[in-house]
Amino acid sequence: MASKLPDTTKSLGAGAMDVDDGSGGGGKKVAGKWPGFVHFFFVLTVVMCALVYAPRFLSPAVTVDFLGPRQPASGRMAEGQVRSVHGGRGNEGDALVLDNQVNSPCASMGAHGICCDRSDYNTDVCFMAGDVRTDAASLSFLLFPPPNGTANANANATVAEKEEVVKPYTRKWEKGVMANIQEVRLRAARPDEADAHRCDVRHDAPALVMTAGGYTGNLFHAFNDGFLPVWLTVQHLRRRVVLAVLVYNPWWAGTFPELLSGLSRHHVIDLLHDKRTHCFPGAIVGTRFHGILAVDPARTRDNRTLVDFHDFLASVYRDDGASEELVHTTAPAPQQQQQPRRRPRLGLYSRKGTRVIENEAAVARLAQSVGFDVSILETANGAPLSSEYAAVSACDVLAGVHGADLTKLLFLRPGRAALLQVAPLGVPAVARGCYEKATTMMGMHYEQYDAAANESSLARKYAADDVVLRDPEAAKREGGWDLIARVYLGGQNVSLDLDRFGDTLRRLHSRARIAVE
Ligand SMILES: *[C@@H]1O[C@H](CO)[C@@H](O)[C@H](O)[C@H]1NC(C)=O
Ligand SMILES: *[C@@H]1O[C@H](CO)[C@@H](O)[C@H](O)[C@H]1NC(C)=O
Ligand SMILES: *[C@@H]1O[C@H](CO)[C@@H](O)[C@H](O)[C@H]1NC(C)=O
Ligand SMILES: *[C@@H]1O[C@H](CO)[C@@H](O)[C@H](O)[C@H]1NC(C)=O
Ligand SMILES: *[C@@H]1O[C@H](CO)[C@@H](O)[C@H](O)[C@H]1NC(C)=O
Repeated sequence: MASKLPDTTKSLGAGAMDVDDGSGGGGKKVAGKWPGFVHFFFVLTVVMCALVYAPRFLSPAVTVDFLGPRQPASGRMAEGQVRSVHGGRGNEGDALVLDNQVNSPCASMGAHGICCDRSDYNTDVCFMAGDVRTDAASLSFLLFPPPNGTANANANATVAEKEEVVKPYTRKWEKGVMANIQEVRLRAARPDEADAHRCDVRHDAPALVMTAGGYTGNLFHAFNDGFLPVWLTVQHLRRRVVLAVLVYNPWWAGTFPELLSGLSRHHVIDLLHDKRTHCFPGAIVGTRFHGILAVDPARTRDNRTLVDFHDFLASVYRDDGASEELVHTTAPAPQQQQQPRRRPRLGLYSRKGTRVIENEAAVARLAQSVGFDVSILETANGAPLSSEYAAVSACDVLAGVHGADLTKLLFLRPGRAALLQVAPLGVPAVARGCYEKATTMMGMHYEQYDAAANESSLARKYAADDVVLRDPEAAKREGGWDLIARVYLGGQNVSLDLDRFGDTLRRLHSRARIAVE
């Protein structure tokens, strides 16, 4: 698949300016410092939703629905919860609520303590409340005892000696990628350590420790394992949080500047390079995860949904300044009522390299003849995400062959738009598993078009009676996910049957026409 990596020198500016790395001189970085990371992203870019989840979709015994009921609280809470500081929902007043998750073992942690929730299958998250200071040398967050004379100056307000170690990434079950995620340590410090850890920088907001590493070079993962989990974890803090980022790099910052400033009003800390002692009133290490591109309202104290995440994206990417709470309704906006009915717009993702629609021009003409205005959307052309947002959010139907760009379904208008995913031969279940649930969680219509053997370029490579064409399920049982990656995902284009695809388009057009009226 094509790389999502834009020109690195070009993207250096915007993001790099935002980092507060303690090097003086405005925190700008030199390009030469990052070739390693850039290479890293290139390598990881070939991985995608289908591939990394393939083992799960392959085995019928393993559910891919991570939204099932959670086991209650099996995390540990350190001793020393002196008083509970949180009140109702959100973060009103000066009470600092670190954990926004319902029924978390850490939801009621005190003003001084360390609590880790390791009960989730996908992710560990640790919370630290009190006098928190970084120790760059050991990549640690130290919790110092509260000063004398405060309400917390209680002999028993000591925290367990045990050190907690967390890797802040949402793929706990996947050894390979987790091996590349740094371990962050959390421990209680002795009062006599204070002299060696005087604050160089004091923050009045808690830290959120996350990574720009992992599979970040792939858009699906950038959202699924990066920004959506971060949003789930800190949106209740309303930008009063400092992002402390592992594997910080200018490509990442330059690709997602709007998201970073939407999540936090503070400078980003480059955790692996910043050697200063940063002090915080609290810290969160790791991020929550609710499922593939999912938000489970029942697990958030403020009842958040995937539509709220869409609204967050809308607020950061819309350039008309209308940010904050956006109204999304299924009713047409007032000015649309006066306008003559417009043709519904279909955005067709044009992939390069693999999973290409070979008769794309004919498909686009077909969509036009059915009644759509058609936009051809290019994948991986290095355009900023804000312009991608504008292009996709203008569509009533987003269509494309399975691939990371369909993650931009998050940019579509909730309640109105539709996603049409074309699944090449052999990957219908995988394709559905990646995007169907998110689409319906946004109140949108999901449609999948499964390419038949005679629409696949594999028909040119394999004999008609070859198991690869005749029975993909059997072929996959034999060849495993190596075969999926190499043949079905990496070595296949499609040429759509215009009669059959036309039926699908006409159906979507009827729906869309009603929605735009
Ligand atoms: C805090 O209290 C301890 C014992 O109660 C005392 O030894 C220490 O000097 C006090 N520290 C300060 C800064 O007052
Ligand atoms: C500290 O804990 C001990 C034993 O658990 C208890 O006897 C004592 O009263 C506690 N002290 C304070 C100040 O709470
Ligand atoms: C959360 O949303 C559900 C369904 O929309 C609603 O019934 C419930 O009252 C909400 N809870 C809160 C705390 O807002
Ligand atoms: C392709 O195969 C399907 C059945 O899988 C069949 O209905 C269709 O007519 C075939 N199309 C062509 C052009 O051969
Ligand atoms: C798919 O199409 C692209 C672009 O036309 C081409 O470069 C590639 O070789 C094709 N792949 C296969 C397996 O035919």
